[in-house]
Amino acid sequence: MNYIGSKLSLLEFLDESISKVIDKNCHVFCDLFAGTGIVGSYFKKKGYTVIANDIQYYSFVLNKQYIENHEHLNFQQLIKILPKLKNIEIAERKNFICDYLSNLKGIKGFIFKNYCLGGTQNKEFQRQYFSDENGKRCDAIRTEIEKWKKEKLITNNEYYFLLATLIETIDKRANTASVYGAFLKQLKKTAQTPLVLKPAELIINDQKHQVFNEDINELASKVAGDILYLDPPYNHRQYATNYHLLETVAKYDNPKIHGKTGLREYEKQKSLYCSRTKVKKAFTNLILKAKVKYIFLSYNNEGLMSLDDIKEIMSLRGKYGHFTKEYNRFKADTSENRNYKAKKTVEYLHYVVVK
Ligand SMILES: C[S@@+](CC[C@H](N)C(=O)[O-])C[C@H]1O[C@@H](n2cnc3c(N)ncnc32)[C@H](O)[C@@H]1O
Repeated sequence: MNYIGSKLSLLEFLDESISKVIDKNCHVFCDLFAGTGIVGSYFKKKGYTVIANDIQYYSFVLNKQYIENHEHLNFQQLIKILPKLKNIEIAERKNFICDYLSNLKGIKGFIFKNYCLGGTQNKEFQRQYFSDENGKRCDAIRTEIEKWKKEKLITNNEYYFLLATLIETIDKRANTASVYGAFLKQLKKTAQTPLVLKPAELIINDQKHQVFNEDINELASKVAGDILYLDPPYNHRQYATNYHLLETVAKYDNPKIHGKTGLREYEKQKSLYCSRTKVKKAFTNLILKAKVKYIFLSYNNEGLMSLDDIKEIMSLRGKYGHFTKEYNRFKADTSENRNYKAKKTVEYLHYVVVK
């Protein structure tokens, strides 16, 4: 997923840097601002037990799939309504189910009625986040997944696999420049392409992993591990507003929405890490609570906390150091008209070896 602050292109830098610091006896990797789950997935593949967390529910769903799911899904109970599944190899069943869901007849549900042109044309705000057809397909698929869960035709693991698949797929069909803070006037090409579910990656391994959906400052003292990797927001832009539609597809809870963009309420998901006046206190509190041997922090040179702030706070727990890498920052389409100061930033990986 094209996600603000995604570390997809920095995975090798992170891995190489981390391995220069840690001892050989590290097995539990905590990724507690997990976002897309790409960092946890990488370390899961390397054999770590991963603990992941994020305050956003769509991110929790993605991590339930990429991190916590680690065995094949057999969709045993679904055979009751899809008997053909019985003759399909277990590893292949998810493809069949994705095809089945992709071919459902669209319905005029919450997404269509509030975020598509056809559903909003007579309302106060017209919105075009998805084509009418994709909005209806999304509603049909989301409704069916929930029905299957309610009727116990799928397990929790299967439920999160299907939801993560839908979130990833619908995001690729969104009619936005990048995030959900605005939609485009004209339907762009990828938004016109019909929504067809592509199964989310399933990383099979022997370890059991854990995923949480909490504010990190609440969670930090409840989990323990060897390595704590922190990748907080760097600036004032709240993830809750930038990805509000993914949150609604994930929760499908008929929220009250308002304004041009159909924003949902997000008071409880406002991150202290996006506030210049609150971030230092929150970060200090987090660093002091962490129950790990090593703490790593990704941050760039334009973030709300200065390099000196970070060094001072992390040094409270032990010996501080950092690595750097020049990095092409996340760039939105020019149509969104953002005024960035620079295209290249320096990405830091700060660390402390806890005493
Ligand atoms: C920079 S992104 C992480 C990106 C992730 N490493 C990746 O590569 O996809 C920051 C994440 O922190 C989450 N977040 C912000 N404040 C949080 C908080 N107080 N507790 C937990 N998660 C939080 C956001 O929802 C967002 O997903």
